[in-house]
Amino acid sequence: MVAIQHKPLPLKKIVLPVAGLGTRFLPATKAIPKEMLPVLDRPLIQYAVEEAIEAGIEDVILVTGRNKQVMEDHFDHAYELESILRERGKEGALEQARSMLREEGRISYVRQMRPRGLGHAVWCARNMTCGEPFAVALPDDLIKGKPGCLKQMVEAYNELGGNIVATMNVEREDTSKYGVITPGAANGKAIEVKGLVEKPNPEDAPSTQAVVGRYILQPEVMELLAAREIGAGGEIQLTDAMDKMIGKQPFHALEFEGQRFDCGSKIGWLMANITMAKDDPTLAKHLDRCILD
Ligand code: UTP
Repeated sequence: MVAIQHKPLPLKKIVLPVAGLGTRFLPATKAIPKEMLPVLDRPLIQYAVEEAIEAGIEDVILVTGRNKQVMEDHFDHAYELESILRERGKEGALEQARSMLREEGRISYVRQMRPRGLGHAVWCARNMTCGEPFAVALPDDLIKGKPGCLKQMVEAYNELGGNIVATMNVEREDTSKYGVITPGAANGKAIEVKGLVEKPNPEDAPSTQAVVGRYILQPEVMELLAAREIGAGGEIQLTDAMDKMIGKQPFHALEFEGQRFDCGSKIGWLMANITMAKDDPTLAKHLDRCILD
């Protein structure tokens, strides 16, 4: 393992790329961003922001695109709604409506003008990350964990520094859906990363440790993304830029503890709803009946 000699710079910023087209969820995502699909009572984007705050990351940068303005409204006052709820004495609902109001300036927005891939979306935030290390979370990857996945990663980062990706073990037949690591030496839950490849065929995959949508990255990744090299699927891939940093900086994978749901797919979103509902006693009793029927 490549050990760091000095304390890593604190992690204060997170980039949330939310400019994708969400084609797997059409027609629901024709006018509504995928990240606003609710799991129970909260939109996906809210889970991601809450996970970042739990990890001590205060500054949130959303990379948005066409039809995504509603996310700005979600993190802003809704004066008319708030005043009606106040008049009617609906304190609980008022609290919910105000629950995502952050200090002004903590959430910023930058626009990816064309959906050219995840790597390009992250690069669009280069002037807002200010040359500091930053986290990235894909809100459609909902991760249920205690503590949350980002908090687990920040703890590992404080020890190891450098770059960290969250991984999970997948079936070999599924490697073509993910970025996959070439693993090196293990240190507890962290594994040194020797290489990264996007969406390999099962027979070519270097392992079954797949990268999920949580990253801690050093600012140099922005310089590599600036080359705008086209990768798998004709898109500018974050995986390709990360792969170029391996060997030059510490790079680890953390097999996180928790459950991950790909809420960009119908089955993942459904499983997330069912799993979260099972944890809520007011819903769980109805759930059993409805699923068994
Ligand atoms: P996906 O691979 O899930 O793509 O993106 P998508 O377009 O959102 O959805 P499908 O596959 O068409 O259904 C992973 C993450 O990267 C963001 C997405 O918003 C999502 O959070 N993304 C992807 C961008 O911000 N810009 C892009 O150009 C591509």
